[in-house]
Amino acid sequence: MTKVITYGTYDLLHYGHIRLLERAKALGDYLIVGITADGFDMARGKINVQQSLMERIEAVKNTGLADEIIVEEYEGQKIDDIKRYGVDIFTVGSDWKGHFDYLNEFCKVVYLDRTQGVSSTDLRSEKREIRIGLVGESTVLNKFAAESHFVNGVKIVGYCSLDSSQFSDELQGLPIKTSDISKLIEESDALYVVSHPSKHYEQIKLALQRKKHILCESPIALNVNQYEELKQLAKDNGCILMDAIKTAYSTAYNRMHLLVKSGVIGEVKSVDSICTSLSDLESKKDKNLSNTWNSICAWGPVAMLPVFQLLGSKYSDMQIISHIISENFDTFTKVSFVYPNAVASLMVGKGVKSEGELIISGTKGYVYVPAPWWKTDYFEVRFENPADNKRYFYQLDGEGIRYMIVSFLKAIDGGRNCSYIGNEVSEAIVGVVERYYMNELILI
Ligand code: CTP
Repeated sequence: MTKVITYGTYDLLHYGHIRLLERAKALGDYLIVGITADGFDMARGKINVQQSLMERIEAVKNTGLADEIIVEEYEGQKIDDIKRYGVDIFTVGSDWKGHFDYLNEFCKVVYLDRTQGVSSTDLRSEKREIRIGLVGESTVLNKFAAESHFVNGVKIVGYCSLDSSQFSDELQGLPIKTSDISKLIEESDALYVVSHPSKHYEQIKLALQRKKHILCESPIALNVNQYEELKQLAKDNGCILMDAIKTAYSTAYNRMHLLVKSGVIGEVKSVDSICTSLSDLESKKDKNLSNTWNSICAWGPVAMLPVFQLLGSKYSDMQIISHIISENFDTFTKVSFVYPNAVASLMVGKGVKSEGELIISGTKGYVYVPAPWWKTDYFEVRFENPADNKRYFYQLDGEGIRYMIVSFLKAIDGGRNCSYIGNEVSEAIVGVVERYYMNELILI
């Protein structure tokens, strides 16, 4: 009996896949199809896959062509599989020509002609194209536009900005360049908002009233009433309103969060996060700070993310200590939270520099995420006995921005906020920012 094996993602199964499977089957008597696990696809940079592993397996199964289906989970697994299953022929489409020649050592390698004119990538893009308009002055918009190229089905249509002097050539070349947000809203299905937080409420409200989806740099609003109103408006108009904290989408951060939730360090007793940067303030010397993101808005949301995700938003007490140099601009803020069974602290600063690390302390051990923890690909789980320590590494591409865009599109497609940042967390972040703006703080 001649055993044949082939591998693929098989997202949105199409004619090209079926032809490949038919010809693979015809090469022998028994066909094994390896289907990539979601995590494996992510790790190899294929971030746009629409269907879950189970859906993709089901689709391949329904072709009736596979005698056996296996899941491909790790780099190098093909060699293991070929040995384990006694495979005679390995085959894939000609788009991989030469790539798997190293398997000749273990079995025969056959590249089959790829079917022209059809691919999962095309199908994903055809399914929908979301036109995104960019709002704000920050150079983050340059990165966002560059990262959007990694995501199928997104088109950046233009920007609304009061100062585009630092925008990339790509942004300068967009069809819509305006300072009138209504014009941008008209031509967009969704907005990515990074304008100054004091403008978020008005801008988001206008866009939501016109049924546009929103991805907004946190905080979404400066007080809870406004946030609630926007959330309700989004719901009434069938729109997505999502916080854009890219850290939440980094694989390492997300895995760390899930590990801690599953109890690996016991009960969490303390979360301590630090986020600081100096560059922004230095470049703004002698300039007006009223349009500059202050420390509590620029760094507060990301620093609060692990606190609210791990301990919830129902703290019993909170204290804010700030150093403010001009109206509302804090160079430095410390926030302490007291929970019934735990505590948390965060330190954020745009005029103070410190080690940007995250430590989560539990009753059995602790998690250490080294600086800069907010764009990490690495963390450690440490115990009393160092021999029990575990290190985790996950590739981080594009600082998490591309994964965030994928998540935003999935939310729009699915009609519900399936992002990693729940409404409860978004609201809790706004709650802290509101207390800051109400001057419920100690000044130093
Ligand atoms: N394949 C093919 N002809 C096509 C598309 C895919 O023969 N038009 C083959 C690939 O060469 C591979 C298998 O089908 O052997 C699974 O491919 P997969 O990567 O899942 O599909 P693509 O459509 O190429 O996906 P993407 O656009 O995401 O790269």
